[in-house]
Amino acid sequence: MIHEHSRRQFLRTSSVASVGAIGALSGAAAGARAETRPIAWVAPKSPVSISSGNGLRAVERAVLRIGEGLDPVLGVVEGVGIVEADPDDMTVGYGGLPNERGVVQLDSSVMHGPTHKAGSVACIENIMHPAAVALKVLQTTDHVMIVGHGAYEFARAHGFPHEDLLTDKARRAWLRWKQTSSDRDDWLDPGQMDWNEEGTSVGLAGEVEPVPFTYGTIHCGAVDTSGNLSACTTTSGLSYKIPGRVGDSPIIGAGMYVDNQIGSAGATGRGEAVIQSCGSFAIVQAMEAGMDPTQACLHVLRKIVSNSKRQKRLMRDAERPDFNVVMYALRKDGVHGSAAMFPGARYAVADGVGARLEPCAALFE
Ligand code: GLY
Repeated sequence: MIHEHSRRQFLRTSSVASVGAIGALSGAAAGARAETRPIAWVAPKSPVSISSGNGLRAVERAVLRIGEGLDPVLGVVEGVGIVEADPDDMTVGYGGLPNERGVVQLDSSVMHGPTHKAGSVACIENIMHPAAVALKVLQTTDHVMIVGHGAYEFARAHGFPHEDLLTDKARRAWLRWKQTSSDRDDWLDPGQMDWNEEGTSVGLAGEVEPVPFTYGTIHCGAVDTSGNLSACTTTSGLSYKIPGRVGDSPIIGAGMYVDNQIGSAGATGRGEAVIQSCGSFAIVQAMEAGMDPTQACLHVLRKIVSNSKRQKRLMRDAERPDFNVVMYALRKDGVHGSAAMFPGARYAVADGVGARLEPCAALFE
């Protein structure tokens, strides 16, 4: 509903500008920027929030709180906080899959459209809500990014409790990963063991559970009825990563970006690919040049694939990558879109109509 309504509200200062801009994008987005005249978008009639598919509760909360008058940046951080605290989501916060040493290390970034201020933390341990810590960086420091033990100490100074984030479920998954990735070393894989996990009998009967693996993340963007935007991305990052590995989520312009004149964008999936194509920044640039949010997401995915072709190990075949990335875009007028490399992904939307999951466009069949 908002979608249709917003399309009608969509105003352009010049239709010629959009044709020129899309043409220019195929060459260089930077060039397109210079050639494009400003586009004036009208704010939506009710707040709109979008997120990755695991964020249905997040968008619902964000829209509710923004509707009550909360700043969108506070709304998105409060929304993702629900997922960060959920032990059953193994991609984010409490219950997230750990690094190769069994330690949960979290990354997050937040950006506030009206002030164009960002805050971010990376490799933070023992703090359940990295997005709220990133918000403190934004609100209370002159910096953008604080990492590692410094981020932990900063969070503690602000009163965030020290918590053990490794759930039993995540610890067992990590153990299975260690066991199944051993190749005749000291760790026996489940098929080699004479004992089951309960410590009884010889040999394991039945199916061996697959090891969960994730680049999973939650991204959440929102716009209020004044057209003010904010966004946030938070994650436990790549499962079983090298300690200290940082993905795209806490990097401004990669895992998340906001331009209050244009829109917000975010990413989930293989962070290395998103970082190397400045994914979220590129989406906002593409929207500025006249692409709609879905087109902008597909445009950046194409660019990621084209860049990945230079490393054969990243490709499933000549055209298709061997990894997934999902991109999300929310324009200032509330129009939104999302696209994944492959079909089947969904993203969460909440607006004046309610909260729901919608299909992401797919770059490949
Ligand atoms: N996109 C999350 C990560 O790669 O860490």
